[in-house]
Amino acid sequence: MRLLVTGGSGYLGAAILKRAPQDWELAATYYAHPLAQSHVAAFRVDVRDADAVSRLFSTFRPAVVIHTAAAMSGEAMLATNAAGTRNVARAAADIRARLIHLSSDVIFDGEHAPYDESAPPHPLTPYAESKARAERAVIEKYPAAAIVRTSLIYGFDPLDPRTRQTLAGEFPRLFTDEYRCPVFVDDLADALIELAGQKPVFSAPPLRSGVLCKKTGFSVLNLAGAQRVSRYEFGVKLARAFGVPPRFEPALTASYPTPRPRDCTLDVSLAQKILRTRLRGVDQVLAEVKRPSE
Ligand SMILES: NC(=O)c1ccc[n+]([C@@H]2O[C@H](COP(=O)([O-])OP(=O)(O)OC[C@H]3O[C@@H](n4cnc5c(N)ncnc54)[C@H](OP(=O)(O)O)[C@@H]3O)[C@@H](O)[C@H]2O)c1
Repeated sequence: MRLLVTGGSGYLGAAILKRAPQDWELAATYYAHPLAQSHVAAFRVDVRDADAVSRLFSTFRPAVVIHTAAAMSGEAMLATNAAGTRNVARAAADIRARLIHLSSDVIFDGEHAPYDESAPPHPLTPYAESKARAERAVIEKYPAAAIVRTSLIYGFDPLDPRTRQTLAGEFPRLFTDEYRCPVFVDDLADALIELAGQKPVFSAPPLRSGVLCKKTGFSVLNLAGAQRVSRYEFGVKLARAFGVPPRFEPALTASYPTPRPRDCTLDVSLAQKILRTRLRGVDQVLAEVKRPSE
């Protein structure tokens, strides 16, 4: 299997490359941070550069592309996420590589949870808007692609940036009324690898009847943790698990200056039905997975 991961230098991308089967031929892109994994062919590509993306795809000719590259903030965010994803979708379609695009639970307004795969995006924030546009670009340019919607990604080896900041007290307040389904990075990476290994990605009968949109032919799959927790509860659980005092206060989303989606709970029952990989909730992960310091 020839797999290309865009954003291989990112948190999720690195986990996918680390956990992919040893006999797969792996390539990955990076942008500002060169790749640290010696078993992976690394390419510096800016996804906003359509020609560069296209050149890489036609040279490496992956069977599957997992598109994780994205910008979470900053001036380049919209172009990276929307135009960049359009470039990736077009290049994947041109060489008929199967594409799995990473989307986010924050594309929803948070007022209609739980969200199943048929839920339409209703973004409230600029980041959410850029990810919703990315989904539209995938649907337009490559209707046969798969869109995976996920939630807060966390992990311990290495620690994800958000958990590190939470434990270090860099977030003074965490919301008690903002709900998400945090997903353990190893579980998410394994689920994506399982999907990548299927031929074609979403051909199982439950998806055909349940999710494949008849009009456009595109597929959506929710891959998130099986437990809904508030941002505050999640912080407390992590602090307890790492044996540090919670260095943050509880707060309500109403105290935030701009609108935020309050409840982005994803319904993961379809993924639980069709995948072998378990999508564990936070409590289960904390009970089962050792932290590096233990
Ligand atoms: N993290 C979460 O909690 C979360 C939640 C829901 C959905 N998601 C989605 O999951 C995916 C992976 O998230 P993550 O946390 O792994 O992200 P991340 O750690 O921030 O990694 C982002 C990746 O995108 C690359 N990148 C940024 N700008 C680029 C550009 N112009 N051209 C090419 N590559 C570029 C970065 O490369 P360099 O580092 O080399 O610059 C990096 O490899 C994203 O699509 C994100 O939207 C994440």
